[in-house]
This record gives sequence, structure tokens and C-alpha cells, in this order.
Amino acid sequence: MYGNTHHVADAIGAGLGTAFDVRVVPVSLAGPEVLAEADLVVVGGPTHAHGMSRAATRKAAVEAADKPAGGLKVEPGALGPGLREWLEALGQYPVKAAAFDTKMHGPAALTGRASKGADRLLRAHGFDVVAEPESFLVTRQDRLDPEETSRARDWGARLAAIIAAS
Ligand SMILES: Cc1cc2nc3c(=O)[nH]c(=O)nc-3n(C[C@H](O)[C@H](O)[C@H](O)COP(=O)(O)O)c2cc1C
Repeated sequence: MYGNTHHVADAIGAGLGTAFDVRVVPVSLAGPEVLAEADLVVVGGPTHAHGMSRAATRKAAVEAADKPAGGLKVEPGALGPGLREWLEALGQYPVKAAAFDTKMHGPAALTGRASKGADRLLRAHGFDVVAEPESFLVTRQDRLDPEETSRARDWGARLAAIIAAS
């Protein structure tokens, strides 16, 4: 919604890009032709209401950004279908995959983790999940913690090593 997950996706892509050709796309552009040529699919989304976003939570996010105090900008296409809808509409894909999310600080039992639900849907659609779901942290003001960019790059590089070894 606010660009944090997009930024983390770019950083993971940079880590993977040390070894592989990478495309970072929003779900609206991740059609079957993108999946057909992928050795690894890494999916991510923001944590909303303890899980993956829904139309209602995306609407709430836009409304929250309309308040002048926060200074948040909404990304183009943010109200469109999210990761949940994209995963639910997929057929079976026996492709390697991993899931991440962005979420607030705090134990997952309190904040929830969108990546847990994404991981579950990946497995339900036949993906071969190669890593535990990973979370990257935002502040209460919805800003990515500065150290998360390099952690995301490192996670991407670790995924690249897993794929290279398999
Ligand atoms: C409607 C709404 C619900 C949210 N619910 C949660 C939540 O349950 N747990 C949590 O950790 N963060 C929650 N957040 C914070 C989001 O995780 C955070 O805004 C997001 O990670 C920022 O990423 P983005 O810039 O890609 O949207 C919520 C945010 C919004 C707007």
C-alpha cells in the first residue's frame, strides 16, 4: 500500500540478482507467462488485520493515508487485487517458492504475519516452499526500519544460494 513491501521486494530481488535474472512485479502483472519462466517465485505482502490484505483492509489503508498527519503516499494500483486473491486464483504450480511480509514490531502472536497465510496457500497450490516465511519490520508510523533493507537483500542472497545448490 505505502511502498514498504515494494521496497523490500526490490531489496530481495537485488540479493537474488547477484546470481539470477530477477523480475519484481506487482501481482497485477504476475501472469502465467511470468510464472512459466520462473525457477523461484518469491511472494510478499503487507500484514493487515493479522493476515494477508483484503479489499476492506486495503480501503482502510487508503483512508488512513488520507489523514494529513501521517504523510503516507499510496502506491499506484494499491486498491487492486492483493496477494491473497492472486494466490487463491492460481492453479497448481510445482515451482520453488518462498513467502515474506512486512509487519509491525512485536511477537507474531500479537501482530499476525501475512507470510504464514501466503506460505500455506503456496503449499496448497503445489509450490515447493524452500524457506521459512520471513517478516520485515515497519514502525508504528508505517515506515520500514532502516536495517531491514540490507536484511532483505541478505535473505534474497540466501534464497539464491538455496536455489543454486538444488
Ligand atoms: C488496515 C491496516 C491493518 C493493519 N494490520 C496490521 C496487523 O494486524 N499487524 C501488523 O503487524 N501490522 C498491521 N498493519 C501495518 C502494516 O503491516 C504496514 O502498514 C505494512 O507492513 C506497510 O507495508 P506497505 O507499505 O507495503 O503497505 C496494518 C496496516 C493497515 C493499513
